[in-house]
Order: sequence, then C-alpha cells, then structure tokens
Amino acid sequence: MLFSTLTTIFLFCVTLPLIHPTITAASTTLGNKTDFVTLLQIKKSISSDPYGILVSWNTSNHFCSWGGVTCGIKHQRVVMLNLKEYHLSGTISPYIGNLSFLRILNLLSNKFYGEIPRELGRLFRLRKLNLSNNNLTGEFPISLTNCSKLRYLNFSANSFHGKIPIEVGSLKKLEKLSLFKNNFGGKIPPSIGNISSLNVFSIAVNNLEGKLPGEFGQLKKLSMLVILSNRFSGMLPSSFCNMTSLAFFSAAENQFHGSLPAGMFSALSNLQMFEIGMNQISGPIPTSIANASLLQKFDIGFNNFVGQVPSVEKLQHLTWLNLNYNNLGSGSDGDLDFITSLVNCTKLENLVLGSNKLGGILPISIGNLSTQLIEISLFVNHIHGTIPETIGNNINLISLYLGDNHFSGNVPNSFGKFHKMQSLDVGQNHLLGEIPPYLGNLTQLVEISIANNMLEGKIPPIIANWQKLQILDFSRNNFAGEIPQQIFGLPSLSIFLNLSHNSFNGNLSVEVGSLSSLDTLDISHNYLSGEIPETIGECKSMEYLDLHGNSFNGVIPSSIASLKGLTHLDLSLNNLFGTIPIELQSLSFLTYLNLSFNNLEGKVPIEGVFKNASAISVAGDHNHLCGGISELNLAACPATIVLRNKHHNLKQVVIIVCVIVCFLLFSTPVLCYWIKKRKRPSFLSSWKSSIFQLPMVSYKILHHATEGFSTNN
Ligand SMILES: *[C@@H]1O[C@H](CO)[C@@H](O)[C@H](O)[C@H]1NC(C)=O
Ligand SMILES: *[C@@H]1O[C@H](CO)[C@@H](O)[C@H](O)[C@H]1NC(C)=O
Ligand SMILES: *[C@@H]1O[C@H](CO)[C@@H](O)[C@H](O)[C@H]1NC(C)=O
Ligand SMILES: *[C@@H]1O[C@H](CO)[C@@H](O)[C@H](O)[C@H]1NC(C)=O
Ligand SMILES: *[C@@H]1O[C@H](CO)[C@@H](O)[C@H](O)[C@H]1NC(C)=O
Ligand SMILES: *[C@@H]1O[C@H](CO)[C@@H](O)[C@H](O)[C@H]1NC(C)=O
Ligand SMILES: *[C@@H]1O[C@H](CO)[C@@H](O)[C@H](O)[C@H]1NC(C)=O
Ligand SMILES: *[C@@H]1O[C@H](CO)[C@@H](O)[C@H](O)[C@H]1NC(C)=O
Ligand SMILES: *[C@@H]1O[C@H](CO)[C@@H](O)[C@H](O)[C@H]1NC(C)=O
Ligand SMILES: *[C@@H]1O[C@H](CO)[C@@H](O)[C@H](O)[C@H]1NC(C)=O
Ligand SMILES: *[C@@H]1O[C@H](CO)[C@@H](O)[C@H](O)[C@H]1NC(C)=O
Ligand SMILES: *[C@@H]1O[C@H](CO)[C@@H](O)[C@H](O)[C@H]1NC(C)=O
Repeated sequence: MLFSTLTTIFLFCVTLPLIHPTITAASTTLGNKTDFVTLLQIKKSISSDPYGILVSWNTSNHFCSWGGVTCGIKHQRVVMLNLKEYHLSGTISPYIGNLSFLRILNLLSNKFYGEIPRELGRLFRLRKLNLSNNNLTGEFPISLTNCSKLRYLNFSANSFHGKIPIEVGSLKKLEKLSLFKNNFGGKIPPSIGNISSLNVFSIAVNNLEGKLPGEFGQLKKLSMLVILSNRFSGMLPSSFCNMTSLAFFSAAENQFHGSLPAGMFSALSNLQMFEIGMNQISGPIPTSIANASLLQKFDIGFNNFVGQVPSVEKLQHLTWLNLNYNNLGSGSDGDLDFITSLVNCTKLENLVLGSNKLGGILPISIGNLSTQLIEISLFVNHIHGTIPETIGNNINLISLYLGDNHFSGNVPNSFGKFHKMQSLDVGQNHLLGEIPPYLGNLTQLVEISIANNMLEGKIPPIIANWQKLQILDFSRNNFAGEIPQQIFGLPSLSIFLNLSHNSFNGNLSVEVGSLSSLDTLDISHNYLSGEIPETIGECKSMEYLDLHGNSFNGVIPSSIASLKGLTHLDLSLNNLFGTIPIELQSLSFLTYLNLSFNNLEGKVPIEGVFKNASAISVAGDHNHLCGGISELNLAACPATIVLRNKHHNLKQVVIIVCVIVCFLLFSTPVLCYWIKKRKRPSFLSSWKSSIFQLPMVSYKILHHATEGFSTNN
C-alpha cells in the first residue's frame, strides 16, 4: 500500500514541475500556517481511517511530509492531496477551499459521504479532481465551474443527483468528464458543445432524458462518449456524423428511436466501438458502415432495424457483430449473402444474428470465417436447407445457436470437430437421422438442445463424454429404446433433463437417484413402464418432476416426499395404483400436483398442497378416491364406516372396487392415447427461450466489468 502510494506520488511528481520531491524532518513553523490548519481540519472531519494513513498527520512532522500530502518546492504549499483507496470515511471539510495552491485532489475509492463543499470552487488552480467511488450526495456544485483550469473531473460511482449545470460549459479546458453511475437527471446542457477540449464524456447509468444536443458535433476531440443506461430519447443527432475523433460510442439501453442517417459512418474513420443495443431505432443499417474501417465492435441488438445486412468486407478489425433481435432480412433467399463478406473479417469472434427475419440457406462460406470465431447465433430466423458440413471448420466455437429455423437433413458429422463447444442448440428444426457418434468429441458441452426435430434411433453411449453437461434437451423427437444408463452418470447434470415426447421404453432405472443435483426432469409422454423407482427420492434438488403420459405402474413411492424443493409434480396418465402418500402434504413448495388418470384409491389428504383445489388434479380417479377438500367433490371417505360395518359391507366394497378397476384398466390406454395425440405447449418452450435466447452478456454487466469501458480494458 505504502509502495503504491509512493509510486503514485512519484508519477504525479513527474508531471508537476513545482513539487518538492521529499521534505525531511522539519518543524511546523516552516511553510504556510493556513495549509497546516486546513489539513488538520480535513483530518477532523474524517471519522474512520482503517489503514492509519492519517496517523502521520501530527505535529512532530512538517505537514508537507504527511501521508498523501505533496507540497510545491518553493512555496511549501500543498499542491496535491492523494488519499485514494484508504477506505476513509467521513465528510469533505469546507476548509479544503483554503488549500489555495491545490492542483490535484484524489479521494478515489473511499467512503466519503455528504455533499461536496461549495468552497471547493475557490481552488482556482485545481486541474484534477477524482472523487469517484465514494458515497457523496447532493447536486453538481456550480461553484466548481469556476475552476477554469480543471482538466479531469471524475464523480463516477457516487450518489449525486440533480441536473448537470449549464455552467459546465465554462470548463473549457476539461478533457475528461466522468459522471457515470449516479442519479443525475434532466437533459445534457447544450453548453457541453463549448468544452472544446473534451475527449472523454461518460454519463452512463444515470437518469438523464431528452434528446442529445446537436452541439456534440462541435466536439472535434471527443473520442469516447458513453451514455448507456439512461432515458435518452429522440433521434441520434445528425451532427454526430461530424465527430471525426469518435472511437467509442455506447448508447445502449435508452429510448432512442428514428433511423440512423445514411451517411452516419462516412466520416467516422476512427470508430472502434459502436453500441446502441436496447433502443427503438429503426430503418436500415447505413451502408456507410463500410467506411468505419477501424470498427471492432458493432452492436445494434434489440432494436427495429430492417432490410438487408450490408457488406462488411472492409471491416478487417471487426471482432463482434451483434444484430440480435431486429427485423433484418426478408425471410427469403439472399438474406445471408453478407456472410460471404465476413470472410475478410479475420478477427471476428462473435457473429450474433438471432431473432430476425433472415431467410434462405446458410452459405457454405460459413466455414471460411475467422479462426477466432467463438460464437455463431442464428436462432429464430427462417433459414432452410441443410446445415453445411463446412461449419465444422470453426473449430474454436464455444456457442452455436441454430435453434428455431427450418434446417433439414442430418446433424453434420463435422460437429465432431467442436472440441471447445459449450452451448449447442439445434432445436426446433426439421433435422433427421440419428445422433452422430462424433458428438462424443464435445467434451466441454455445458448445454445441448436437439429438441423438436425428427431425430430417431437410440441415444448413443457417447453421451458419457459430456462430463460438464448441465442442460440436456432431447424432447419431441422420435428417439427410442431405453433411456441410456450413461445419462444418470453425468456428474454435472444439474439444471435440466428433458426426454419428453419421444418413444423411450423400458423401466426408469434406479440409477435416476444419482441425479442428486438436477432441478428439472421431464420424461413425460414416452412408453416407460414398471415402477417409479424408490431412489427418485435421492434427487434432492428436484423442483420439477414430470412423468406423466407413460405406463408406470405400482404405487407412488412415498420417497417423493423427500424432494423438499419440489414445486411441480405430474404423475398423471399412468397406471399407478394404491393410495396417495400422505407425506406429499409436507412438500411446502409444491404448487402443482397432477395425479389424474391413474388407478389411485383411498383418502385424498387435505393439508399442504391438497388445501388448494386449483393446485391439484385427481380427475379420472374420482370413483376410487374419497375425502379431500370439498371443492374436489369427492365422496366422503367410508373408512370409519367400513371399519364399523366391516362384516356387512367388506365383500360388497371389494366387488365394486374390482369392477371399477377393471373398467379403468381397459379405458386408461384409450384415454392415454387420445390425450397423447393432442400437442400441448410445453413448459420447455418458454423455459428454453430464456436459456438459449438471452443476450450473452448484459450491457450493464459488460459496462461494470470494463469499468465503464475504460481504455485499459
Ligand atoms: C498563507 O496562505 C494565505 C492564504 O493564501 C496567505 O494569505 C498567507 O500570506 C500565506 N502565508 C505564508 C507565510 O505563505
Ligand atoms: C506522528 O507521525 C509519525 C510519522 O508517521 C509517527 O511515527 C508517529 O507515531 C506519529 N505520532 C503520533 C503521536 O501519532
Ligand atoms: C478557511 O475555511 C473556513 C471554512 O470554509 C473558514 O471559516 C476560514 O475562515 C478559512 N480561512 C482560514 C485562514 O482558515
Ligand atoms: C481517478 O481514478 C481513476 C480510476 O482509478 C483513474 O483511472 C484516474 O487516473 C484517477 N484520476 C486521477 C486524477 O487520479
Ligand atoms: C451511502 O449513503 C446513504 C445515505 O446517504 C446510506 O444510506 C448508504 O448506506 C451509504 N452507502 C454506503 C455503501 O456507505
Ligand atoms: C466564481 O468566482 C467569482 C469571482 O472569482 C465569484 O464572484 C463567483 O461567485 C464564483 N461563482 C461561484 C458559482 O462560486
Ligand atoms: C458557448 O460559448 C460562447 C462564447 O464563450 C457563448 O457565447 C455561448 O453562449 C456558449 N454556448 C452555450 C450553449 O453555453
Ligand atoms: C459538420 O461540420 C461542418 C463544418 O465543420 C458543418 O458545415 C456541418 O453543418 C456539420 N454538419 C452537421 C450535421 O452538423
Ligand atoms: C466511404 O466509402 C465509399 C465506398 O467505399 C467511398 O466511395 C467513400 O469515398 C467513402 N467515404 C469516405 C468519407 O471515406
Ligand atoms: C477480401 O478478401 C479477398 C480474398 O482474400 C480479397 O480478394 C478482397 O480484396 C478482400 N476485400 C477487401 C475489401 O479487402
Ligand atoms: C473426434 O476426435 C478425434 C480425436 O479426439 C478425432 O480423431 C476425430 O477426427 C474427431 N472426429 C471428428 C468428426 O472431428
Ligand atoms: C473515473 O473513475 C472510475 C473509477 O471509479 C474509472 O472507472 C473511470 O475510468 C474514471 N474515468 C476516467 C475518465 O478516468
């Protein structure tokens, strides 16, 4: 800590000609009494100093040697106060206005609270003011606009509110102005256009509104403009086309609308990052994009852009192209021709085109893209034809999202080359054939969806290689045979296992109990038979369990009641018999319980989930069940009567029960078949869309992760 402080002081010394390098032991009579008194006043308003930096602020040393204090060499006046990252807590004393020689004040990353004293505005020599990452409140102090030599002003990550004063325009020498992550509101004053030296302006993550002033166009030196996550509206001013120094522009998460000027990018030859995701901007992508030849990141996701994607072949530095969630394309042939122009973008890492209207076939040039490519997202479009084998050339892919298109043909064998693949989604297409054994090469897989296709055959044992798999969705295909044992041995399978709506048969293995961290298991609508294994009770993390529409028989294992987190349990449309385990009452999170169309008998419990008629269903079992809450309209349980009149009635009851059971045994398969034929919207379709279709990284996270897109990152 001390070393880094000294380093910082040293660095500032280099930039400040008047600073005394070191002042050794000297008496307090040397130097200016005012600064001495002032510093002690400043110390007084600091209540907590966990690192003890202020211990040295005592009368046995000259104040010029106090921790964090640097004096000018000639006049022995304080020129820099650098107390950054000491976790100091307290207020900023108004006395600070008396340090009249102060040029640099750095209180970065402490816990100062309260308002900035007006007196700070008296420091007319001030050049750098860094108050970021504290807990300061109040409005932007207008008095500060008197500090006309100010070059650097950082108020980011505090709790300031109010408007940005119009007077800010008088800080003509200001180069960097960072106000991000506060509660500033109102509009950006047009006087901003007068700060002709402005190079960096960040107002991200505030509550600013209104249009951006066209005066930004006058800022010929502005290279970084970060306004993301506010409530700005209107169109982007056409004068933006004049900001020839602009390198980083981030305006994501606002309410901008209208279209971009056709010549938007013609003069922006320094542009490296352009982000306007999550607005309501419409119209075509300007073809002048080709002029922004230094562009690395282009992100216009979550807007209303239409038309064809222009050629980007000149953008040789492009690493990130995100056009997600727009209305691009015409739904017909030719929409994806621009992919061929991407061949020249040899640094491309993310190609994100999901949820548009892109049609036609996926060109084989998809295999000639950058070797750096880690993500291809084409989900929810209208792409048809086969998935080209060449796609396997992208051997560094980590994510491939092709779901919800009209792809046909087989899963390409070349998928076996994706040794780094983590997320693979080819669901909701018209794919045929079997799972290629080469998929066993995908040892890094975390999630895979092949759901809603026409794949068939057995699931090959190679799935045992997917040791990192958390999500597996093979639902709604024609897979047959037994559920492979290897699935139950996957150690990471923790989020989702959906094999529903296939033709799996045989028993559910007792090994199912190994899935002890799985949240969701859906094996509904298959031909599974035998008993539900007692070991199901070992799946301790289970929240959603759906076994309906099979041919399970035997009793409901009472071990299900050990699944304490269970919210959804569907055992309907099976051949289960016996009584409803009373232990199910204890499942306090259960909000859906469907036991209908089985052969259950006896008393329906009345506590827990059974209290809520809309949460449970026992339809089709009516004749055998009794009791329960009154809304179920079941007969009262004869239990006690039977006991009392055992000798008279037992024979009769047994005969009636037998007749009904026999009748149901005949009718159940018919019913099963009838219900199975009706396709229901699955829980998965909504769930899946949240897993596979969210943007990979939210702008806010990204912003924070890069500390407000600081150039270091
Ligand atoms: C100390 O600073 C004050 C205020 O700037 C000034 O009036 C006074 O003359 C200075 N005294 C010395 C000894 O420099
Ligand atoms: C005064 O500061 C010096 C130098 O840091 C320190 O060694 C000394 O302990 C301090 N004295 C008191 C009374 O805190
Ligand atoms: C310093 O500042 C305080 C508060 O702003 C003020 O009361 C005082 O008169 C000023 N002058 C000196 C010499 O301390
Ligand atoms: C203020 O803090 C930021 C973040 O650490 C740093 O980049 C900047 O250089 C600091 N400015 C000054 C003048 O110390
Ligand atoms: C910041 O200050 C507010 C009140 O002004 C207080 O409620 C909050 O806890 C403080 N936050 C931190 C991190 O100290
Ligand atoms: C700015 O300084 C002038 C004189 O130096 C003073 O009259 C004025 O009140 C100051 N403005 C603010 C907002 O402090
Ligand atoms: C910009 O500065 C000029 C001259 O200093 C002044 O006349 C004008 O009013 C200022 N513009 C704004 C919007 O403050
Ligand atoms: C761009 O700047 C030129 C001169 O610098 C000016 O004539 C033109 O009006 C500006 N265009 C816009 C849209 O502001
Ligand atoms: C933009 O690109 C087009 C087509 O490549 C070219 O004709 C034009 O001169 C470029 N404009 C600028 C300002 O570089
Ligand atoms: C794109 O790459 C091809 C083949 O390498 C080359 O012929 C063509 O000139 C490149 N286009 C541009 C605009 O660089
Ligand atoms: C699968 O990986 C093996 C080696 O790990 C490799 O020899 C084989 O070619 C791969 N299969 C495909 C289709 O890439
Ligand atoms: C302002 O400070 C924050 C740290 O709190 C830093 O992330 C940011 O880069 C700084 N801004 C400038 C322009 O230095």
